[in-house]
Amino acid sequence: MLIQQGLIENATQPQDIRIEDGKFTAIADHLTPQDHEQVIDATGKLILPPFVDPHVHLDSTMTAGDPEWNQSGTLFDGIRIWSERKKTLSIEDVKTRARQALELQASHGVQFVRSHVDVTDPDLTALKALIEVRDEVKDFIELQLVAFPQEGILSFPHGKELMEQAAKLGVDVIGAIPHFEFTREYSVASLHFAVELAQKYGKLVDAHCDEIDDPASRGLETLATLALETGLGDQVTASHTTAMGSYNNAYAYKLMWLLQMSHINMISNPLINTHLGGRFDTYPKRRGLTRVKELNEAGVNVAFGEDDIKDPWYPMGDGNMLDALHMGIHVTQMMGYDDILNSYQFVTTHGAKAMHVTDHYGLTVGKPANLVVMNNDNFYNALNQRSEVLYSIHQGRVIVNTDPKQVHLHLN
Ligand code: FE2
Repeated sequence: MLIQQGLIENATQPQDIRIEDGKFTAIADHLTPQDHEQVIDATGKLILPPFVDPHVHLDSTMTAGDPEWNQSGTLFDGIRIWSERKKTLSIEDVKTRARQALELQASHGVQFVRSHVDVTDPDLTALKALIEVRDEVKDFIELQLVAFPQEGILSFPHGKELMEQAAKLGVDVIGAIPHFEFTREYSVASLHFAVELAQKYGKLVDAHCDEIDDPASRGLETLATLALETGLGDQVTASHTTAMGSYNNAYAYKLMWLLQMSHINMISNPLINTHLGGRFDTYPKRRGLTRVKELNEAGVNVAFGEDDIKDPWYPMGDGNMLDALHMGIHVTQMMGYDDILNSYQFVTTHGAKAMHVTDHYGLTVGKPANLVVMNNDNFYNALNQRSEVLYSIHQGRVIVNTDPKQVHLHLN
């Protein structure tokens, strides 16, 4: 396959890309089409590495309103409603909904997804279902699964045993939820347990960490210290970390130094945390996000996730990472022209780094041929106009193509 004259990652000089046997084999100013080679004309169109959603919950997706809508809009009401819905889960129910969400994501050029899966369920129904889904979608999405203890590791009956069972069943990543544990001691112990479990089974770590507007919630310092002292470094991710938006500046300064040294990844979820955050505030009302701009400027790897697609925590969501990014750059005030132009990295390369897939991700000769062609010339315009993904190519195969919408004006 030959993709002609695309603008790679905001370049102004067009280039041709050749794909053979599922890999990039040449990228150059001009490549001559070979006999019978499939040619895609991408003249003047932006080419990016595929979108990455490094943080979503596919077990709860598409359940918004069932058994009830989350009218208060708090994280805690979300957890309460989900614990009711969880009782009715079946393998087919989870698989159908997860597949729906993944197909939506694929239609928007997402090819790499990390899903947390609630394992505070004695039957581990959702996990068993998603392990099947992971295999069934592998030709169009690389899916990682996280053992996520929604109701706690030490605070939920047999929480530790369920986490270990999940590790044995074959999750890719070990999770935690320190801010939801009963006590500060449980919070610290749960992170030690999660990291030790990951080491025992050779897994990555990704904890829901300090997703609360409580400046006293300090799971992040424990997780980063563990990343540093175990040498796991960038195999560890802290998700949400919204409490960091409420820390005092002196403490945040000291913490930043630890985060840099630890090489930990951070994932912020702008749609959900803007919606759930600050719910206990009157005015002034906090924005509910971690310090994305400052972390990014300090060289810490920060990615954006979509987190929830129509579930008890978030009533909306369409599987489009441009939505998360659009919200994210507004709330974090990363709105300089260059910030916007380069912001695609928060939903592409930064997410790939957090998922630890960079050895097979990126527009480089020799790597698997994964890319998207956007219906615009640069990312500033693509984001602003929510441009279509004209083509999504995964391992050298066109998995999505989109006809651009046509608008006809009849104004006079
Ligand atoms: Fe989450």
